[in-house]
Parts: sequence; structure tokens; C-alpha cells
Amino acid sequence: MGDFREREPQVMKENVYLLKDAMEKAPRLRGVPTGVKGLDELFFKVEWENGKPVRKPLGGIPEYAVINLTGMPDTGKSLIAEQFTVKQASLGQKVCFITVESPASFVAASLRERATAMGIEFEKIENNIILIDAASNSRLRDDVPTMLDTLAYVYRTYKAHRTVIDSITGLFEAKEMLARSIVRAFFNFMKKWYQTAIFVSQKRSGHEGLSAEAAGGYAVGHIVDSTMVLSKEVILSESRARSYKVDFGDIVRLFRIDGCRMCGHDTKVHLMNITELGLVEIGPPLVEVLKRKG
Ligand SMILES: Nc1ncnc2c1ncn2[C@@H]1O[C@H](COP(=O)(O)OP(=O)(O)OP(=O)(O)O)[C@@H](O)[C@H]1O
Ligand SMILES: [Mg+2]
Repeated sequence: MGDFREREPQVMKENVYLLKDAMEKAPRLRGVPTGVKGLDELFFKVEWENGKPVRKPLGGIPEYAVINLTGMPDTGKSLIAEQFTVKQASLGQKVCFITVESPASFVAASLRERATAMGIEFEKIENNIILIDAASNSRLRDDVPTMLDTLAYVYRTYKAHRTVIDSITGLFEAKEMLARSIVRAFFNFMKKWYQTAIFVSQKRSGHEGLSAEAAGGYAVGHIVDSTMVLSKEVILSESRARSYKVDFGDIVRLFRIDGCRMCGHDTKVHLMNITELGLVEIGPPLVEVLKRKG
């Protein structure tokens, strides 16, 4: 390190903005419907009404947000990711779905199932969903620049503004010390291309069920705009069965939003249900159920 006084100043003027000018590029706060019943009302914005600020539901996740969707195995992460994909495609959006876990043909079959359950015709969505099969290609999985080049190609060709990665964890398998830099690279890329994105991230069994921690430590949660956590509990005690008002041996599924830096949001733990058609629905706050008599 030399003497600072001998240095020529190197000012990064292009990174200095007056608020007024930064606002010109700032996105308006808008909701992006998820296709998950009960979820879109849990994000809020503030509006003035009769001279007072009031809380209004956003009607979806905030546009251009990168959302981390985390939970243990079999908690409903892929179902939510698929419902979001199908819903957005049915609204005419191009959606880029990066599959890291199962090959594209399996995801395609699953998306068709989801569409059927949601009452959406397959013809309405088949040309709006672009699958990147990283499950079948180790170069896409292991080499971040190759994946980002491929993504840029998809964004340019199809004009996509919605991205799903199932899962981001699969992109740092066996190299969790790189989790932070990999998630950061994808997060920045989503921002650059104005994507509304869902990153699915897996939890390890050592993690506490409803915490935001996922594989790679807290790396994912700190970088993204918002985290949604899913958990499930098998009820194996009579007293828990009584307080949840379910039968011994039933599964209770829970959902919560662990922060969102783009807008206000509900902070309660909610019951969650997976219907027999394979659709996730967010239920009432857990506290309301526990308070109910009988
Ligand atoms: N078509 C379906 N019909 C009914 N239930 C389904 C259907 N598909 C999935 N489920 C239920 O939803 C659960 C969650 O599935 P999902 O694939 O979303 O889990 P996940 O959180 O992505 O798990 P993983 O981390 O293993 O990928 C399944 O274990 C199953 O109980
Ligand atoms: Mg899954």
C-alpha cells in the first residue's frame, strides 16, 4: 500500500446519484400474483386515503423482488415454484424455469399437472415457459458464467421477466463455502435483467424448522430481498393434536414470511395446506387456530 496522499483521485462518478435521478429508474411497487391461494394478500404497500396512510394488500409478491423459498424436504417448495410459474405464464408473462433437481421432461409433466389442478389450459402456458435443464448438464450446474450466459440468451430471446430456480442449493452442492458468492452473482443478475424471481433453497436437517437458515448458512437469506419459510410437523403427541385440533399422526404444515426489504408483509406463522390435487394454499394465522375453542 502506497501513501494515499500521492494517489491521483479516482472518483466513480457514474455510481453517484441524486435521489431525483435515481427515482427515474426506480420500479413502481406492484404485486405479482403467485397462484398460491392466501399468499398474495400477505404483502402490503402504503397508500394515502382521506388524509391518512393506510395499508393495502399488494396482490402478490413485489415485482422485481428476489425471493428465497426455503424448507426441509417435502414441505411444498417445488409446488409453490410451479404454481407461480403456471400462474404467471397464464397471465402472458414469459417465465424462465431453471431446473437443477429433476430433468426438464419431468418438470414439464409436473407443470402440466399443476396447470390442470389450477384449471388453466396447457395451451395457454406451453409457449410462455422456458425450461433450462441444469439437472442434465453439469456445466450449467457448476459453471456460473455459462449459466448466466444461457440465462441472458433466454432473457434476450423470449423477453422473460420472471425466473424460478429449483433449487439454488443444487448450484453449490459440495461447495457450500461458495454459497454466498454464487447467490450474490445470481441475485445481481436478476436485478440487472429486472426479474421477479423465486430461488428455492433446501434446508439441512440440522436447521431449525421455521428459521430462515438454509444450506450455505445464512448466505441466501441475507442477500435476497425476502425469505419465505415452509415447515411440516408430524403430530405424535395427544396434547399437540388437541391444540392444533387435528388427529394424532396428522401432518401440520406451517408457513411464514421472514422479512421483505421491498414492502410491508405479514409476520405471523400461518397454517399451510397441500390439497389432494397437489396445490399449496396458505391458511389462517396459527394463533387463531390455537385460540379457537373445542
Ligand atoms: N400431485 C400431488 N398431489 C398431491 N400431493 C402432492 C402432489 N405433489 C406433491 N404433493 C405433496 O406435496 C409434498 C411437497 O412436495 P414438493 O415437491 O413441493 O416438496 P419440496 O419442498 O420441493 O421437497 P424437496 O426439497 O424434496 O424438493 C409432497 O411430499 C406430497 O406430499
Ligand atoms: Mg422440490
